[in-house]
Amino acid sequence: MANKKDPATRIQSLLQFGEYGDVNPSVTDSATFTFMQAKTMLETFKGEAEGCFLYSRHWNPSNKYLADALAALEGTEAAWVTASGMGAITCAMLQLVNSGDHIVTSRTTYGGTYAFLKNYLPKFNIEVSFVDISNLGAVEKAIQPNTKIIYTESVTNPMLQVSDIPALAKIANKHNCKLLVDNTFTPMILQPNELGAHVTLYSLTKFVNGKNDCVAGAICGTNDYIASLIDVNDGTAMLLGPVLDPFRSSSILKNLHTLHIRMRQHSENAMFLAKKFKEAGIGVCYPGLSDHPDHDLMKKMMHPDFGFGGVLAIDMKTFDRAATLMEKMEMEGVGYLAVSLGYFKTLFSNSGKSTSSEVPEDIQREMGMSEGLIRFSVGLDHDIENTWNLIQKCMNEL
Ligand SMILES: Cc1ncc(COP(=O)(O)O)c(C=O)c1O
Repeated sequence: MANKKDPATRIQSLLQFGEYGDVNPSVTDSATFTFMQAKTMLETFKGEAEGCFLYSRHWNPSNKYLADALAALEGTEAAWVTASGMGAITCAMLQLVNSGDHIVTSRTTYGGTYAFLKNYLPKFNIEVSFVDISNLGAVEKAIQPNTKIIYTESVTNPMLQVSDIPALAKIANKHNCKLLVDNTFTPMILQPNELGAHVTLYSLTKFVNGKNDCVAGAICGTNDYIASLIDVNDGTAMLLGPVLDPFRSSSILKNLHTLHIRMRQHSENAMFLAKKFKEAGIGVCYPGLSDHPDHDLMKKMMHPDFGFGGVLAIDMKTFDRAATLMEKMEMEGVGYLAVSLGYFKTLFSNSGKSTSSEVPEDIQREMGMSEGLIRFSVGLDHDIENTWNLIQKCMNEL
């Protein structure tokens, strides 16, 4: 059973090579594919011809290599890759809901996801309830007869709340709905589908690719669900068309093979800085710290080899103090004042005014998000002690 292996070994065990034995599968630089027999084209349209490709909005061999590797990472039957994380999230949800349906979602999610759920879906008469995802009673209470999806992030952005995936899956199964988990913050560390989720989603833009050179996403799930997404008649991915370029698939696949090493280093560095911030008396949120409310839950679910992830948040209390510290840190070479995460260099931003700016300020406060919150995506620094000395110097100058 392949799934007995750890996620990194499952990827390493894949035998994927090109038609000349090229160790990196060749990039299929074609929008369309030719057939020698008209009958095979017919079968391919019906989804019955194994290994045949029709048109690159549907499938492309380069995208298939990456999708297969992501399915191996997650232990799912299949996967499909998209041109962005939002492309994955929106298609995955729209495939499962019709007008008149209802979604229960964590109230803390990435700002773009929040905006889609709050502002966009109501246009199609799809109702959404926002709940504290750690309050399982509230999640179950929010479910209605027309609820089709429970939506959450494995570790939420930016409050770093950890979702109890097995418990949420139990609620979803009891009420006949699907649990969708955005695992962008914790690849390798958590495998949501193996913990009971029905669909795992990614912004590959972040840790999975890790190079900040492109935007991409993925949907991992059952064969039937992935096939439904690309059905030529009513598949959301096929009809909305957020397809990933094969050149990008090829480069992301190569980066995927170093993900396990990078996640370990991101986590080790984040843990080091989280402890230092705590010792310095700064309010810090990191699931690896024993005083984080979800520390034990995370330990129960995570793969122990890859740590608690590369993202932490500190509270500088006011926006002005946060802004001054970030400007100083950029000048000192700690990293970049930039949105996004999962890069080899440290990135920091004030969530309230950037990646969560779609969330109204009163709701931000309700979530517990301080106006002075700085989210750090900790990089792969070799000398993290030196990084801490630079941060300390900046804090002393405030
Ligand atoms: C947790 C999470 N999910 C999804 C997204 C959206 O991904 P993309 O920017 O690749 O569309 C982001 C982007 O910041 C994110 O942080």
